Amino acid sequence: VVDHPKAARVRRLFSAIAGRYDTFNLIMTAGTLRCWQRAFLEAGNFAAGERVLDVCCGTAELTIRIASRVAPDGRVVGLDFTEEMLAIGRRKVAVAPHGALIELAMGDAMDLPFPDGTFDAATIGFALRNVADIPRVLAEMTRVVRPGGRVISLELSKPENPLIGAPYYFYFHRLVPLLDRIGPLLDRGGPPPRDRLAPPPRNREAAAYTYLPNSLRDFPDRRNLARLFAEAGLVTVKTRPLTGGIVCLHWGVRPPA
Ligand SMILES: C[S@@+](CC[C@H](N)C(=O)[O-])C[C@H]1O[C@@H](n2cnc3c(N)ncnc32)[C@H](O)[C@@H]1O
Repeated sequence: VVDHPKAARVRRLFSAIAGRYDTFNLIMTAGTLRCWQRAFLEAGNFAAGERVLDVCCGTAELTIRIASRVAPDGRVVGLDFTEEMLAIGRRKVAVAPHGALIELAMGDAMDLPFPDGTFDAATIGFALRNVADIPRVLAEMTRVVRPGGRVISLELSKPENPLIGAPYYFYFHRLVPLLDRIGPLLDRGGPPPRDRLAPPPRNREAAAYTYLPNSLRDFPDRRNLARLFAEAGLVTVKTRPLTGGIVCLHWGVRPPA
């Protein structure tokens, strides 16, 4: 799947933190994640019976929530290239209310293994920042939705108001990397032996929460990401900043045939 240095790095990183990914997200966002996920479901405007592809599904957080919107007879495919993230996702899907509607698959967002027009919507949550080639992923997502289908992204963004930006960047660049030190404490399956706790990570893969703020640095701001949506061939592109623009929704429609 992976033939790009960034992709290989991202994959190693997520395989290292898969066990603590869900817990960390809730802690790091102080629970605001749930509001963002709800706003995402609203923007997605999913309907019963739809077929949805959740690209870079990770531990199936959004996948499971989308399934409850397309129930009782829709289908959701979650696709990711990190087996360890998918493994956690599979455990969650097995006990999710509409888990039977979900299929989790290994695959590359840059080369989606589906024919043109397969889905009513394609989604991507907190992952455009991590892919090696954003225009290519957006083009792939546009290709696999039917004419009139939607492409929706939920992603961290760059707040335009400095009164929000300054404390946010301080938190993100100075405090979030400290999570690398307590990481093993929160791994699924219980606390680790004491001797795994102390040292800060020495290599870059283990330093996932040092990578996180850096991943935002080169990422397009709200307007530029909207431009990339349009360049991918999507129309009626809309954006909705959340929590002062810390996070942003983008969505657009593949032109009807
Ligand atoms: C931050 S997680 C987001 C997971 C999930 N969407 C969520 O909302 O929690 C990013 C995920 O993107 C996946 N990923 C990154 N690049 C990918 C690619 N090119 N193809 C497939 N998955 C990719 C990683 O394996 C990781 O699971």
